[in-house]
Amino acid sequence: MGGGAKRIAAQHAKGKLTARERIDLLLDENSFEEFDMFVEHRATDFGMADNKIPGDGVVTGWGTINGRAVYVFSKDFTVFGGSLSGAQAQKILKVMHQAMKTGAPIIGIYDAGGARIQEGVESLAGYADIFLQNTLASGVVPQISVIMGPCAGGDVYSPAITDFIFMVKDTSYMYVTGPDVVKTVTNEEVSHEELGGYRVHAMKSGVADGAFDNDLEALTQVRRLVDFLPLSNREKPPVRESFDEAYREESSLNSLVPANPNKPYDMKELISKIVDENDFFEISKDWAKNIICGFARMDGETVGIVANQPQVLAGVLDIDAARKAARFVRFCDAFNIALITLVDVPGFMPGTKQEGGGLITHGAKLLFAFAEATVPKITLITRKAYGGAYDVMSSKHIRGDVNYAWPTAEIAVMGAKGAVEIIFRADMNNPAAIAEREAEYKARFANPFVAASLGYIDDVIMPAETRRRMVRALKSLKNKQISNPWKKHDNIPL
Ligand code: HXC
Repeated sequence: MGGGAKRIAAQHAKGKLTARERIDLLLDENSFEEFDMFVEHRATDFGMADNKIPGDGVVTGWGTINGRAVYVFSKDFTVFGGSLSGAQAQKILKVMHQAMKTGAPIIGIYDAGGARIQEGVESLAGYADIFLQNTLASGVVPQISVIMGPCAGGDVYSPAITDFIFMVKDTSYMYVTGPDVVKTVTNEEVSHEELGGYRVHAMKSGVADGAFDNDLEALTQVRRLVDFLPLSNREKPPVRESFDEAYREESSLNSLVPANPNKPYDMKELISKIVDENDFFEISKDWAKNIICGFARMDGETVGIVANQPQVLAGVLDIDAARKAARFVRFCDAFNIALITLVDVPGFMPGTKQEGGGLITHGAKLLFAFAEATVPKITLITRKAYGGAYDVMSSKHIRGDVNYAWPTAEIAVMGAKGAVEIIFRADMNNPAAIAEREAEYKARFANPFVAASLGYIDDVIMPAETRRRMVRALKSLKNKQISNPWKKHDNIPL
């Protein structure tokens, strides 16, 4: 009963489930094995010696999701606001250690008010111990954080180190310092929602990878995500029986790319038409929408998809898009998930805002992530692949294993108009000459065949056969083995 019936009722009144109800929904029925139900805090100051609640504000243990083991901790807001005591930290660390030893994901459910104020430094030490374990677990077992209430102060940095953060709309918020501190320090008046609600983190800052309508939806979606992932970096991703024909032709794709190169189309249509059963789990779908990242399956095998979205900012690469995709690519590489990259990109976003914001460094993250990745990498250029963005988007030159292009692909340093304006500047006052030069440039470069003649594109394929060609390519790469030079770790441009 955690903090008792009254506090549980208050929790429900806010539209939130309790820590235990959440675990029940996350895990397979009756699969939860609880640890440390009898642990209590050890504080004595401020009347705490007589104020103990068994379990002390977090429910921990393990269970299964569709039969596969995961370790869980779920903060109980009804017990001292879920705040972290030294004892609570030990409970969380215990399940983290078990997960690491056995090779199973860690799922943390957050609903807490930060450090246990009555405990002081013992609580701070507990946080640091957890941060260290999160760091050591990074790239070893998948770590998923679900924010289902307050997540303030010390609580934010553990999720921040994990692989994915999901929030619940309107009932969750995350910030390093709350509205009161903000008011004192900067004199700015903000609500919890304005400071750290899902609109901030799932749409603007990119801190969260998604937001769901309520607790039930969030937990159901986490179950769906876990199904795509291997349990640890020692495993290949799970293979699910596919009910979709592996070599299915999709003739509607032949007319997906509009004749006018400036007209957008929806890259998600291509994704849903080539993956198994149209099933695509999108990551950060409301942030940096000019790039799409997510998991799907091809003939039963998990793949990570990275795709430019011509419908948003013409699919340009900017700071946020590069950050979003780089992190996703690195996750896939860490967990042996093959990458499919769908390219329609006019280049990097020009402008003082982008350059001033460090586009060079952030863009380099994506370049670095693709270049270092050793998992199978399949690339398809559907239309534009201009300039540096051509190189970055898993090109042959940075170890793309199979690189395809549709006949509509245009692989060039830049679009014809921009190119002609630079190399034929002297003709600028002669529209007829400029039009002729543009047509000449287009005829020469606005196609995939120059790149294909150099071997940078392995084949020019018909859109309808994309699924078949990719499924076959993935099968051919199943036993791919390459490794990077020995190093302690790399130095990605952070
Ligand atoms: C001990 C806490 C607590 C905390 C809440 N409670 N936060 N107890 N330590 N940090 C208790 C309350 O006393 C209350 O107990 C119950 O939890 C519910 O809290 P309410 O305030 O009534 O709930 P609500 O109005 O929903 O507000 C939630 C809240 C607020 C916004 C999270 O409680 C709050 O601001 N808490 C303090 C947040 C904070 O400053 N934390 C420290 C951050 S510093 P009863 O008995 O009445 O039910 C930090 C440093 C770590 O974390 C850095 C490490 C790197």
